[in-house]
Amino acid sequence: MRIGHVSDLHLSDRGRYPRAGILPRDCDRHSVRLAQRVLDQLEEAQVDHLVVTGDLTLSGEATEFERAAKLLRKWADAGKLTVVPGNHDVWTAESVKTARFLRMIGPDGRGMRKPEVSYPFAALPAPEVAIIALDSTQFGDEPFDTPGVLGSAQLQACRELVREHVKEGRAVLLALHHHLLLPRERIPSDALVARTPLLDADKVVRMISDVRIAGVLHGHRHCAFRVDIPGAAGTTPILCAGSASRVSDEPVRRARGYVYEIDRSGVRSVKAVLAPRG
Ligand SMILES: [Fe+2]
Ligand SMILES: [Fe+2]
Repeated sequence: MRIGHVSDLHLSDRGRYPRAGILPRDCDRHSVRLAQRVLDQLEEAQVDHLVVTGDLTLSGEATEFERAAKLLRKWADAGKLTVVPGNHDVWTAESVKTARFLRMIGPDGRGMRKPEVSYPFAALPAPEVAIIALDSTQFGDEPFDTPGVLGSAQLQACRELVREHVKEGRAVLLALHHHLLLPRERIPSDALVARTPLLDADKVVRMISDVRIAGVLHGHRHCAFRVDIPGAAGTTPILCAGSASRVSDEPVRRARGYVYEIDRSGVRSVKAVLAPRG
C-alpha cells in the first residue's frame, strides 16, 4: 500500500497576531496554498492513507484548526487520515483547556464531540499495515522552551500495541510529532527547535531495538531528513517530513510531502513530493 506523510502545516490566522510570543511575520513563513499543492500531489500519487504528524496550527487558535480541518476534510471524510498533535497545537492554556485539537481534528481528522484520551491509537489503513499514533505534546507556560514527552504509560501501551499487530503479521509504523534523533549535518538555522526535544526519545529508540517497528514518521523540524537505525525489524528508517507549507527555496526546507510504499516486510520505498513553484 501507499502512505502519504505531511507535517507542520502551521496554518495561521494572521490577524490574531502578535500574541503568545508569535509575530504577524511568523505567519508568512508558511503558505496554505503550498500545503494544498502538496496534498493535491499526494492525491495524484494515489496514496491510500495520509498521516499528518502535528503542528497543524501556529498557536492552536480555533480559526486555525478550522482551516486545518477544511484542508484535510476530503481525507477525513474518506476515512483515510491519521493525525497526531504537535507542540503548536497545544501552544496556549486556552487551546489545551478547551481540548481544541481533539474536538476539531482528533486522531482521524473528524473531531470528537466528547474529547477523551485518544493516544496511543492504532489505525489500520490496510490489513498488512498498522500505524500507531502517539501524542508527544505537553503544555508549558513557556512554549518556546517546553520539550515533548510521551510518558511511561503511553510508551508501555505503545509497546503492547506494536506486539499485538506484529503478531497479526502487520508492518507497524509509529507516528509522532517530535524528532527522536538529528542527523549529523543538522542545520544551524533550525537551532530554535533544539530547545524542544522529546525527553524520552531514548526510550523509543530502545523500543525500536526490542520490538519490530517498520519505520517512524515525525515532523517538528522544518527540514526533511532520514536517519536509519538498527532495530528488531532490521534497518529502521526514521523519517522527518519537514513542513508541507514552508515558503523556502532551500532544498531541504521546500514544502513537501512523502510517499511510502509499504508491505508486510516494511517500508519498500520513500519518495518526496515537492510543491510545484509559482
Ligand atoms: Fe513545526
Ligand atoms: Fe513542532
